[in-house]
Amino acid sequence: MPSSMRAYEAVAKFTEDTGNGPIIDLGSGWGNVVIRLAKAYPEREVIGYELSLLPWFISQLLKSILRLKNLRIHRKNFLAVNFADQSVLICYLVPESMAKIQKKLKTEQHHVRYLISNNFALPLHTPEHTVTLNDFYNSPVYRYRMKAK
Ligand SMILES: C[S@@+](CC[C@H](N)C(=O)[O-])C[C@H]1O[C@@H](n2cnc3c(N)ncnc32)[C@H](O)[C@@H]1O
Repeated sequence: MPSSMRAYEAVAKFTEDTGNGPIIDLGSGWGNVVIRLAKAYPEREVIGYELSLLPWFISQLLKSILRLKNLRIHRKNFLAVNFADQSVLICYLVPESMAKIQKKLKTEQHHVRYLISNNFALPLHTPEHTVTLNDFYNSPVYRYRMKAK
C-alpha cells in the first residue's frame, strides 16, 4: 500500500533540513514516494530498494519515462545493502521490518544520518520530531537522528 499524499508531504518536509546525502526509500513499492522526491530534489540522489517484481518494474518504467537521472531503483533486499555516506532513510513498512532495521543499524557499520518512518516507530529509539497526520487514524510520522558508526 503506498503512502498517502499527507504522509508523503510530512516525509518530504522532514527531509528538507537533512543535508545533501542520498535519500533512500526502504521498500519503494510502485515508486510513489521516490518519484516525487527525485523531482523535488533534482540535485540530490534518490534511491529505492524494492523486492516485489511488478512494483519494481513499473517504478523503473516511470523513472525512464520521466527521465529522472537522479533516481535509481534496485530490485534488492534493503537489509542486505550498505547504506551510502550521509544517507537519509525513509520507510513505510511493518513493525517486524522496523525491528530488523533497528538491528541492522545497531550491529553494522553505517553512515546513516536520519531515518524517517511513516506510521511505525523504531522500538528502542526516541524520535527527534514527530508529526501526527490529520487523517482518520491520526497516523504518526517520525524522524530519528541516527549516530553514524
Ligand atoms: C507499504 S509499501 C511502501 C511503498 C512506498 N515506500 C510508499 O511509501 O508509498 C512497502 C514496500 O516495501 C517492500 N519491502 C518490504 N520489505 C522489503 C525488503 N526487505 N527489501 C526490499 N523491499 C521490501 C514491499 O514489497 C512493499 O512494496
